[in-house]
Formats: sequence, structure tokens, C-alpha cells
Amino acid sequence: MTKLPPKLESPVPVGVIGAGYYLPERILTNKDLEQMVDTSDEWIVERTGIHERRIAPPEMSTSDMGVLAAKAALRNAGLTGNDIDMIICATVTPDMMFPSTACFIQRGIEARESFAFDITAACTGFIYALATAYAYLASGYVHNVLVVAAEKLSAFTDYEDRNTCVLFGDGAGAVVLSKINKPGHGIIDFILESDGRLANLLQVPAGGSRTPASTSSIGERMHYISMEGREVFKFAVTAMKRTTVRIAERNGIKAEDIRWLIPHQANKRIIDAAAEALGLDASRIHFNIHKYGNMSAASTAVGLAEVVLNNGLKDGDIVLMVAFGAGMTWGSVLIKW
Ligand code: UT7
Repeated sequence: MTKLPPKLESPVPVGVIGAGYYLPERILTNKDLEQMVDTSDEWIVERTGIHERRIAPPEMSTSDMGVLAAKAALRNAGLTGNDIDMIICATVTPDMMFPSTACFIQRGIEARESFAFDITAACTGFIYALATAYAYLASGYVHNVLVVAAEKLSAFTDYEDRNTCVLFGDGAGAVVLSKINKPGHGIIDFILESDGRLANLLQVPAGGSRTPASTSSIGERMHYISMEGREVFKFAVTAMKRTTVRIAERNGIKAEDIRWLIPHQANKRIIDAAAEALGLDASRIHFNIHKYGNMSAASTAVGLAEVVLNNGLKDGDIVLMVAFGAGMTWGSVLIKW
């Protein structure tokens, strides 16, 4: 894709007014994985930057984690479910094919006056969901939007495949977005891109209409994540650099203006490459990959919530979020606090 989506002209002030996250208690360490597949702590840390990841218990679904993150975000915003008009859930690990995970979250937080739907853009899902929320809020169609990114990747991970099982973890992040009374602040730009020609690089091949569940699809382990790791890596480095540099450049933002870069946490080497392209100091990059691994859409959502709740953001701070994922999809969101 060479043509770039246009820049937001005179963006309506739409900002994050609350954030929260949930991570399951159980920790799966690299040492644990050494007992399961032919791998080593040293290999995983050196090639990915991951030390451990969280795993949800069998009885906990994606929406259960989403509800806990959503309730935390609502508390932080000083709102209840009744105040929410629209719920978007970004996930590739829905509770079921249908209904949407967002509808289960709606039920869990008792948001009776809202409508709810899912977005599937894999690891870029939270970025796509923020941009969608922005469009609905800016149009005046809704007033308070809950965006949740929740993933139970452990349910789709093949713990006999060392190429993938060392990477993924479970978790959920959520934010409440609203119009704010601060012109020039809030979401000031986003770039969304995708290239369906690369759809085969990263997928769960069976369980949909193309290959419904059957004894052979189960026998061939087709309901698990399948990935061309090296190809995804090459694509990711280019896409992350492209979206990071372009959104900064077209908004006249220099590396030193950015308070936090919150990137998708797939591989520390990919994040380092994107930051280097921008000339960004490591102290301004939010990392959680060492603790949680790759949580797909939830990685950036938990990252944003961690920054909001634990690091503190001051008026005028610039936050740049960037991600890439299956599809392939990639994109970025620029927020001025
Ligand atoms: O959210 C988006 C989802 N995914 C990604 O972003 C993943 C992008 N890709 C990556 O992060 C990297 O490609 C990986 C971390 C998946 C792999 O790292 P790599 O440096 O690209 O390794 P590789 O695939 O080139 O494999 C190097 C070697 C191979 O052995 P040989 O062929 O050189 O003998 C692999 O079989 O490492 C081997 N290997 C492992 N060894 C120990 C692959 N996985 C493992 C493992 N432990 N877990």
C-alpha cells in the first residue's frame, strides 16, 4: 500500500477519560516452557525479550477478562455501565463465533443503553477500535464509548509448537473515550492500513466457513495459531517503522516531543527497530513484553492503561501507539493528553 490514509483535519477533541486492565494470576515462565517443548530461556529472551506470560484459567473466557478490565476503566472514569452508549471489543479470540464478545461484555457491565460489536484486526485491533470510537464520537452519534481489547490466546496456542507457544499470553485492557473540552488535545491523528495479500502469514486456519471443524481439522491441529515467523518479522519491522515515522512526520512531531511510545509487544527486536527509525530514546518506550508476552490487541490496550494508571500523564504529553498484526494490518494513533 503506497497511498496513505488522509490526516485528520481539525480533529474534534476526543480523549481517554478512564483506563483499566486485567491480567490473569497464573504465570507461565520460560523455564516452564522448557519442560513442554525443545526451547530454552536463553533463546526466548534473546530472540523475543519475553520472560513470562499470563495464562487465564480454563473457566475464564475472553469476555470475562474484558469485563474485569472494563469495570476498572469505568471506575477510573467515574462512570457506570449505564453511562456507556457504545462498546467495541477488539479480539481475535472471541468467546464464540457469535454472538460478539462485546455483547457478553455489555451484559457483564450492565450497559443497558448501549450497542456493542467486535472488531477483528488482530494485534492492530485496539488501534482500529480507537479510530472507530473516534469517528462515532466526532460525528456526535454517541457520547461515551467503551473500547476493550481482550485476548485469551492460550486457547488457540499449540503448546507442542515451539515456533509459536513461547510468544503468546492472555490479558485485557480497556479505555473510556468521550468528547473533551480541550481543543487540540485527545486523538489528533491515526493511520490504518492493511494488505490482504499477506493473509496466509498468520492465521488460525480452521473453525470458520472455509474449513469448518471436523475430526481431520482437529487431527491436523488446524484450530491453533499458525505463523510464518520469519516473514511476519520482516513485514513487521517495515510496517512498524513506516507507520511510526509517517504519523510523526505528518504531524510535525519529533522524537523528543513523544512522552510515550506504546507499541504492540510482539518482539522486543521489532519495537527497537521502530524506535530507532524515529531516533527515540529507550526511556520513552513502554515495554510489557517481558512480563506478558504477546497479547495481540490487548498488548497496546494494557500498555496504554499501564501508562495512564502507573506512570502518570501530564497535560500536553504526546502518546504514540503503533501496532501490526494478522491480515496483515498495521496502524498508529497519536494522542495529545
Ligand atoms: O503479533 C504478531 C505475531 N507474531 C510476530 O510478530 C512474530 C514475528 N516473528 C518473530 O518474532 C520471530 O521470527 C520469532 C521469535 C518467531 C523467531 O525468531 P527468529 O530469530 O526469526 O528465528 P527463526 O524463525 O529464524 O529460527 C531460528 C532457529 C531455527 O532453527 P534452525 O532452523 O536455525 O536450526 C528455529 O527452528 O531457532 C529455532 N527456533 C527455536 N529454538 C528454540 C524456533 N523457535 C524456537 C524456540 N526455541 N522456541
